[in-house]
Amino acid sequence: MTAPSDRINPAIPVIRPSKDALPALTTLIEIEAPTEMSKLVAFDSRDPRSRPFNLLRVQVVKKLDQCGARLLGITSAAPGAGKSFVASNLAMSLGLLSNWQTYLIDLDLRRASLASIFGIEDTQGLTEYLLGEEISLATIGRRIGATNLAVFPSYPATVNSAELMVGERFEELIGRARALPDDALVIFDLPPVFANDDALLIAQQLDGMLVVVEQGVTTRKQLQSAIQFLEPTPLVGTVFNRFDGGFGDPYGYAGSYDGYYSSASEPT
Ligand SMILES: Nc1ncnc2c1ncn2[C@@H]1O[C@H](COP(=O)(O)OP(=O)(O)O)[C@@H](O)[C@H]1O
Ligand SMILES: [Mg+2]
Repeated sequence: MTAPSDRINPAIPVIRPSKDALPALTTLIEIEAPTEMSKLVAFDSRDPRSRPFNLLRVQVVKKLDQCGARLLGITSAAPGAGKSFVASNLAMSLGLLSNWQTYLIDLDLRRASLASIFGIEDTQGLTEYLLGEEISLATIGRRIGATNLAVFPSYPATVNSAELMVGERFEELIGRARALPDDALVIFDLPPVFANDDALLIAQQLDGMLVVVEQGVTTRKQLQSAIQFLEPTPLVGTVFNRFDGGFGDPYGYAGSYDGYYSSASEPT
């Protein structure tokens, strides 16, 4: 894992690993894996719709591993670009690998959606944890089926999220993510860059960012400014979502599954 001092901008206040890591997958409550009708198309690797996510998984693992990065944020310029869709499917795809432990963390507190995507039913999640309430990460996280994926959800709430992202509990969360063994990847589903300060505050503590671009909606200028805003956190890649591919799929989504994204590549 990259030592904090090796990071690109040593001027950033870096949260150091805590003595306790995030809870091991085997210690978490296990919930049933998603059904066929869910939006987690990456769950069944035999399903052709999971293919784009498996390709993205290969590229992401390669890039992160090359630079010893483990904490990856997913954001976009504006809301609704498909951050949670990409984050949950990428994480699910990673969770099917036996040699990685994947953690997926919902930090889009105001528009939290991972609980609903994964069918997690509870009332207290990361928002309450970040607010300092008496709740442990071990009771918040869920292991998805018998996979190597753990999801830490938030439940929609009106909070001053930017304040929470500079609080002690946030520091603890990041410190515990950094303390995980080297075979763990942590994916953070973030708010959009231009919604509030949250994404930028969180990005400062992560090793890399993936930016979701909504085909036909996100402009080049928006993407360029979003990437600039996120600096100096390295850009791991851009994901072109809702890539123009026609219609008629059984779930009624716009776009074809073969074309979720074009590549996880450096922007040109
Ligand atoms: N490629 C896609 N194919 C089908 N549905 C999608 C796709 N991308 C996003 N969606 C759907 O669009 C809506 C908004 O996506 P979401 O991931 O919640 O956006 P964000 O997290 O960026 O706000 C969700 O209902 C999601 O399931
Ligand atoms: Mg979202």
